[in-house]
Amino acid sequence: MRDKGSKEHAVKAMKYTELEGFTEKQLQQHHGVLYTGYVKKLNQIEPDLEKADRSKANATFSEIGELKRQQVFATNAIKLHEGYFDNLGGDGKPSGALLDLIIRDFGSIEKWEEDLVAAGIASRGWVVLAYDWDDRKLHHYSSDYHSQGVWNCTALLVLDVYEHAYFIDFATARKNYIETFLKNVDWTFLGERVKQLRILEHRNG
Ligand SMILES: [Fe+2]
Repeated sequence: MRDKGSKEHAVKAMKYTELEGFTEKQLQQHHGVLYTGYVKKLNQIEPDLEKADRSKANATFSEIGELKRQQVFATNAIKLHEGYFDNLGGDGKPSGALLDLIIRDFGSIEKWEEDLVAAGIASRGWVVLAYDWDDRKLHHYSSDYHSQGVWNCTALLVLDVYEHAYFIDFATARKNYIETFLKNVDWTFLGERVKQLRILEHRNG
């Protein structure tokens, strides 16, 4: 996202060069073309937003209305993709603070995985394992579109199920893709995020 002191958003590099089960072409198309494209578009949208004529605002069609909608679309696309790429690069073995939370809220890692895979097959865009600061629980929230989401939640594990995320390597075998995604989850990174966000303290507070 935005560099400190800069008006421009920057592409965040992947922390790995390869992932088990994914080809370089699949990763490059996803990160280097799709995700990078959203960053470029947001850098185009925001200067135009500053200049847009507020007096011509209209809900059916207006320059400011379209720019505001696409700002949300591109911003969420960037945040979700950065979450997705940051999730990966690990050994896929569940551990740490997030595992503890999952067991408390889903009953077992097997039940959690069953719910994630089902949500991933049933969704058209994203599945987000999110901590909801209001009910103090984890949820798998599905989203068919970058602009859908639930407020006052923090995304922890982000799964991209848009076809561009897997079609080069897996064609229509989405379940196979999700299982390969799970083999690459970085549980150490996720556990550190849970600690930094002080979710365990909030949950028990
Ligand atoms: Fe994607």
